[in-house]
Amino acid sequence: MKKHPETLAIRTQLNRTEHLEHSVPVYLTSSFVFEDAEDMRASFAEEKDRNIYSRFSNPNTSEFIEKICLLEGAEDGFATATGMAAVFSTFAALLKAGDHIVSARSVFGSTHTLFTKYFPKWNIQTDYFDTLNPKSIEQIIRPNTKIIYAETPTNPGVDVIDLTYLASVAKKHNLLLVIDNCFATPVMQQPIAFGADLVIHSATKLIDGQGRVLGGVVVGSKELIREIYLFARNTGPAMSPFNAWVLSKSIETLAVRAERHCENALKLAVLLEKDQRIKFVKYPFLKSHPAYEIAKKQMSMGGGVVAFELEGGVETGRKFLNAIRMCSLSANLGDTRTIITHPASTTHSKLSEAERLESGITPGLVRISVGLEHINDIKADIRQALNKAFKN
Ligand SMILES: Cc1ncc(COP(=O)(O)O)c(C=O)c1O
Repeated sequence: MKKHPETLAIRTQLNRTEHLEHSVPVYLTSSFVFEDAEDMRASFAEEKDRNIYSRFSNPNTSEFIEKICLLEGAEDGFATATGMAAVFSTFAALLKAGDHIVSARSVFGSTHTLFTKYFPKWNIQTDYFDTLNPKSIEQIIRPNTKIIYAETPTNPGVDVIDLTYLASVAKKHNLLLVIDNCFATPVMQQPIAFGADLVIHSATKLIDGQGRVLGGVVVGSKELIREIYLFARNTGPAMSPFNAWVLSKSIETLAVRAERHCENALKLAVLLEKDQRIKFVKYPFLKSHPAYEIAKKQMSMGGGVVAFELEGGVETGRKFLNAIRMCSLSANLGDTRTIITHPASTTHSKLSEAERLESGITPGLVRISVGLEHINDIKADIRQALNKAFKN
């Protein structure tokens, strides 16, 4: 009988050692030994599927990858030290000089920096389509375009892009569709089911869920992952076995955590939407979200992040952040603790003002990664901070 994702996340486990441990041990070892010269030769020749060196593979990273593959519906994957290492390794492995990327304009700040600062050094150019109008994609596809890239929901604007549409364009033009699924996690959205070729995660976020370790992963077909694996095996962005152990354990509770994050986020979004001092609230499962119908079609829950714009722009935003008492002012998201950020002055500060506005990052935009504290305590902190921010 086919098992449910929640069960697979818990019951997918490395074979037990002779100690019959219940919980998987950490394989903190940089290398593995061989029976004899022939075993060593055959292993290096990849005639045997076994661990050689933890830059290539390790039991803990393999277990973590297997779980993500099962949840995302992917054949294979590679785990990296950070989400950005997964993003960079994917492009670096699959592209060559002269290739072209078509990306949604709203992407994570460091991904944007890769596209604008580093890839042009290797003659890999990127053009952006309007996240709110993906129909504009076809106008910027060139004969040398290789990849369509998007995040959905986006960071930090929480816009939603139609995965079915992106996949249809990718198919029509014979391009690879690569989706950063960090905000939704495979619990809420499986882009491969909608036609994506590769899915990337910053496991640092909701997958870890407790703000402890960094990690990244890319999953997709065996063929594409093989290219990424060969690149990574030689260039060294591998995830540490310890982090893989932590993250694999985290996946066991991902579904229940995600459910509560989403429940709290929706309650907070509904509260904020009623507040006259807030210009707009963006949350995928609010009816007022511009892509509500698309979000309902491709996501099973709305995610843990709410974005909103305060009346009074940057100055009120600053006062609001300074008045926060319980929630954390921090750069992460997807933590048990509610985290508030002001993207314009932090994660996206390297972008020009014009680039920020084009990505939907207005001066007073506040992003809240809603945590697992009791919703009434989260609401109370936000409410008192709003009152202070708007006191004359
Ligand atoms: C959507 C998205 N992609 C990628 C990353 C990069 O992940 P990491 O910080 O693990 O390198 C982040 C980090 O915030 C993110 O939000």
